[in-house]
Amino acid sequence: MPSLIIDGKEIAAEPGEKILWAALRSGIHIPHLCAMESADLPFGGCRLCLVEVEVGGRREMVTACSEPVREKMKVYAHTEKIERMRRTAFELIMSDHLIDCKNCPKRKDCELIRTASSLKMTLQPKNLRSLVRDLSIDDSHPLFAYDPRKCVKCGKCVLTCQGLGKSLLNFAYRGFEMVVTTFDHLPLASSGCESCLECVKVCPTGALYLKETGGRRDG
Ligand code: SF4
Ligand code: SF4
Ligand code: FES
Repeated sequence: MPSLIIDGKEIAAEPGEKILWAALRSGIHIPHLCAMESADLPFGGCRLCLVEVEVGGRREMVTACSEPVREKMKVYAHTEKIERMRRTAFELIMSDHLIDCKNCPKRKDCELIRTASSLKMTLQPKNLRSLVRDLSIDDSHPLFAYDPRKCVKCGKCVLTCQGLGKSLLNFAYRGFEMVVTTFDHLPLASSGCESCLECVKVCPTGALYLKETGGRRDG
């Protein structure tokens, strides 16, 4: 079983395991929003899991969710530089997120709130203005709804739907315009959705939510 050293602490890892999962299993917290242990290919979009690794006497920055463990590798997960970059990544994510916790169905179990707390930040970006787009809630499905203004483009719903062999959800457009949507932008109720609700379970924010848990219908 390979071992690695994170912030001076030696921990064990499974062969081929990514740094992130080895760290979390050993009780070392590394922020992460888009990683899914079950996914073959990490999405690598949020950049919150950045760490430094020592390679040939130099330090390189990698995402812990995509970098496999190597025997005796040295990882630095909480340097000043890393913390600064994570804070910038989180501000970018939050600049395109509708912060409305009071009315949000995820307010008691929100990954963004946990991440802000672990980074010792507020949800509201301090250095970036809000770029939340004027997008409408899809309220068409009887059981769940989708509020794209709360989507952080983590890709978990897309990967989960694909993993179940359905692929009804996908990303459309690129860059700032990117959204999660259905084929041909059909309403969820007409998309062929089989109501397994697995996408709702993996969504880390209030973007996909069960209607019975509340949430505004003002989109
Ligand atoms: S997802 Fe909901 S609870 Fe979480 S930060 Fe956004 S508005 Fe607040
Ligand atoms: S809807 Fe939720 S799970 Fe899907 S990409 Fe957006 S935040 Fe991630
Ligand atoms: S958790 Fe690694 S890039 Fe998002």
